[in-house]
Amino acid sequence: MTDYPFATEVITEADLKSRVRELGEAISKDYQGRALLFVVILNGAVLFAADLVRNVDVLSEVDFLGLNRFGESGRIGIAMDLSTPVFDRNVIIVEDIVDTGLTLTVLRRMMTDRGAASVSTAALFDKTRRRVTDVPIEYRGFEVGDEFLIGYGLDWQGIYRNLRSIWAVLDIEAFVQDPKVLSKQLHSG
Ligand code: IMP
Repeated sequence: MTDYPFATEVITEADLKSRVRELGEAISKDYQGRALLFVVILNGAVLFAADLVRNVDVLSEVDFLGLNRFGESGRIGIAMDLSTPVFDRNVIIVEDIVDTGLTLTVLRRMMTDRGAASVSTAALFDKTRRRVTDVPIEYRGFEVGDEFLIGYGLDWQGIYRNLRSIWAVLDIEAFVQDPKVLSKQLHSG
């Protein structure tokens, strides 16, 4: 794995691939014979969702939900709503990472309030130790620590989503001062 002073690679592309495949297989087994609606939370979950749904062998629809997050409060608003009705559907919320759990709690309630037949969650990363509210994650990729992660959909100020593996930020101060600090090492510019 690659190491730089500011960030270090913590989950390889191969490990992501095999874990996402396992999650897809588990979903396929649990929902055999039923139709699914994947609700993908923008923007971070897009890469995970693209790989996950290709490993699901069940009749599926995929739709996207964009959120506005208001600071640390956990209050969220809808920036871009689904175009598919949720009523009477088996919904799987696809999240990149569950941190405090506040966002996911609101999302699950939103899907239930809209009349979903069932609601479950596929989250690639779980920062269990930072949880402030108990919320179920039926399909969980990796339990991770407190470090800030980037890559494979996860961003720092909008960049690094296109990295093929997961990196932990080691020097937050360096990223605050210059968000492109890792990019300069990785892409020579
Ligand atoms: P929660 O409501 O605190 O659980 O917020 C989860 C959201 O915080 C995720 O969907 C991400 O957008 C963001 N987030 C939390 N930790 C990280 C991280 O390590 N890297 C990138 N985004 C993160």
